[in-house]
Amino acid sequence: MWPAWELLAFCSLILTSTGHLSPDFCSQIFNSDVKPGFPKTVETNDPGVLKAARHSVEKFNNCTNDIFLFKESHVSRALVQVVKGLKYMLDMEIGRTTCKKMKHPSLDNCDFQTNYTLKQTFSCYSEVWVIPWLQRFEVPVLHCH
Ligand SMILES: *[C@@H]1O[C@H](CO)[C@@H](O)[C@H](O)[C@H]1NC(C)=O
Ligand SMILES: *[C@@H]1O[C@H](CO)[C@@H](O)[C@H](O)[C@H]1NC(C)=O
Repeated sequence: MWPAWELLAFCSLILTSTGHLSPDFCSQIFNSDVKPGFPKTVETNDPGVLKAARHSVEKFNNCTNDIFLFKESHVSRALVQVVKGLKYMLDMEIGRTTCKKMKHPSLDNCDFQTNYTLKQTFSCYSEVWVIPWLQRFEVPVLHCH
């Protein structure tokens, strides 16, 4: 991963110092050295993976009308692919917490439901695209069942 990160840093430098270079310029630099399109397994406790899992569950909470917030409970498999930034592909479990959505609490302070009636978990597959140098992310794919 180190050479890829060096290239990312290099690209962002070029982009910010000249401003109007097309983003494709970056991917051409990538293409010459690393091979995008080949997802690699990454540790499930990698900080980037955990952040991507959090983005996924926030998207879930945004898109569902449960009274309670859900939170990631376990990432079982993680892949990462270099595509103009990083694309994470995650298999994860999420569970209902005791935090009510209306109160906008921070998920870090939310515990999982212990009440048998309210307890609920889903298995999810998500794809999270992160562009570190723009501090942008998107969750284009999220399937839960
Ligand atoms: C959730 O919705 C809020 C407000 O609309 C938005 O700012 C945030 O980016 C959304 N998060 C995700 C992960 O979609
Ligand atoms: C569990 O939740 C249900 C539904 O809200 C409620 O009726 C019940 O009293 C709760 N049980 C406990 C042990 O808190």
